[in-house]
Formats: sequence, structure tokens, C-alpha cells
Amino acid sequence: MNVADLPKVELHLHLEGAAPPKFIRRLAKEKSVDLSRIFDDGGNYAFENFAHFLQVYEAATSVLRTPQDFARLTQAVLEESAKNGVVYCETFLSPDFCGGGDVSAWREYLQAIQETATKAEKETGVTLRGIVTPIRHFGPEKAKRVARCAAETAGDWIVGLGMGGDEGQGRQGDFVYAFDMAREAGLRLTTHAGEFGGPESVWDAIRDLDVERIGHGVRAIEDPALVRELAAREITLECCPGSNIELGLYPTFEDHPMRALRDAGVPVSISTDDPPFFQTTMRREYSMIAQAYSWRESDFRALNECALNAAFCNEVTRERIRKILETK
Ligand code: ADE
Ligand code: ZN
Repeated sequence: MNVADLPKVELHLHLEGAAPPKFIRRLAKEKSVDLSRIFDDGGNYAFENFAHFLQVYEAATSVLRTPQDFARLTQAVLEESAKNGVVYCETFLSPDFCGGGDVSAWREYLQAIQETATKAEKETGVTLRGIVTPIRHFGPEKAKRVARCAAETAGDWIVGLGMGGDEGQGRQGDFVYAFDMAREAGLRLTTHAGEFGGPESVWDAIRDLDVERIGHGVRAIEDPALVRELAAREITLECCPGSNIELGLYPTFEDHPMRALRDAGVPVSISTDDPPFFQTTMRREYSMIAQAYSWRESDFRALNECALNAAFCNEVTRERIRKILETK
């Protein structure tokens, strides 16, 4: 079997980051917003580096304004996931972009997203769950409001809290209050670390925030003691190699540390992060990784099992997805 055809579990996908440029251009036109500066001549998102990427990302997101806009986006994203053979996906959702951190506004956005996802699951076969996302460079106070949104809507659909944004701003430990609030509400925890921050950022994430997964985490490879710690504690890394390459962390898939981390016993999984920004898809990630590491079907099946074990969904959902993975 071509590995790109395998059924897939994706743990790290930003909903706004999955908006195709055409989708954002259409919304911008409808709302009479000039966003031409964020696109290149070919119509793709254009950015120079990580800081610029975050600016372009936020400019694109600025035309996603109403619950209905997010409902349309959810439908488009799930159709694309289905084309890529994704059967289970966890998506980052930002109350900062969905009502500015206000709990009752957030509930309206979430309802629109969740209703669309439930309907789309019947059409596409993709099961979606949400991870609420504080944005690090918006600061700890905004993160508390976001965590309150998360805590108020925690359940079988909102399953986690996961911080994104600029890892260069502040420390993981500045967000302890937000993460504690989410943990007390029964949410599972992850944070972006070891992407633009070094190994110390991953140490902070596991010591100060006590997360059970790490978004990216790949720069852990620079510290052998940290690699051993991640392996011993079975902390799963949400690896997004195509994203790391496009943002300039590593020149090629061959240079990416995912293989070395896996060989050292760290649980790793494969995701796309913000696929249209990095001109990638889950099918492409699988193909590129297979080529770079000579990984075969059995390796990718094991990676999906690892991802499913680390998924934040309830056990009924996990076992249902496990059956789908086994029969496809
Ligand atoms: N938000 C969207 N994509 C991100 C990334 N790769 N790192 C941090 N925050 C993000
Ligand atoms: Zn991310």
C-alpha cells in the first residue's frame, strides 16, 4: 500500500491556519478588506520568517469574524482532511479570534463549529475534536480568559488546552494559572515548545505546565537528557516536519530530527500545523517522510497507533477510531 493512502490521525492542526488562501480571499472580498499584501503572485500566503508568518496568519484570521465564517471554515477543512485520509483530527481553536475571550460569545462560535463538525462527520467520516488555544504573545492575562472559555466548555468535544504563538515571548511558566484552571476542568494539556525555543523551553513545559504532549518539541534533540526524559515519561511529540522546514528550522526532511527522536524511544506523531501556509498536506507529509527515512507501511501504522493513544478524546471514541485504523 502507498503510505499516503493510509488512514491517519492528526493531532496538531490550527483551524485558522488550515484556511486555504482562496477561502480567505473570498471572505476578504465579501467584507471589503484589502489583504493583497499577505499573498504572493501565485496567490499563496507570503512570509519571510516566523515573526512575519504570525503577522500574516493574524491578518488572514482578521476576516474570520462571525460564527458562520468559522462554520464555513470547519466544513472546508474537514473536506480537505477527508481527501487526505484523516479519520481523526484535533484542531486548535482560539477564543481570542472567536469573541475576544468572552465566554458567552465563545459559546456561540463553538456551537457553530461543533454543529458543522458533527454534520460533516456523517458526510466525510472525519471525527474532529477541539483544543482551546491561548496565544502566547497575547500574554498571561488573555490566556486566563481563554482558559476560562476552555474550562466552561470542557467535555467530550473540547478535550484540551494547548498554547500556541510566539515561543520567544515570556516563559512557559508565566501561564501556570491558565494551565492549572484547564487541568482542574478535566482538560488534557499540550503546548508549543522546542520549535523556536530550545530544549529549555521543553523542560519548562514539562516541569512548569506538566503537559502530556508537546507541540513540535523537536529541538529536544539538542539535549540527550531531555530526550531520555521524554521517552521515559512517554510524552508524545506532535511533529510537523513540513512546517518546520518551511519556517527554516531544518533545510530538508532528511535533516529533521523526527527519525532520531523515534529511534531514541520518544513517541512521535505526524501533523501539518497550518497546511496551506506551508504548501503541504497529510498525504504529502507521509510521502516525504517515507522517502527521507525509508519508513514503510508498518512504521506509519505504528505512528498512527501512537498518535491515537496520545489523543485527548474519550475512550469510546478512541476504540471506535482504533477499529477504523485496523480495518482500512
Ligand atoms: N500558530 C499557528 N502555527 C503556529 C506555529 N507553527 N507555532 C506557533 N504558533 C502557531
Ligand atoms: Zn502549531
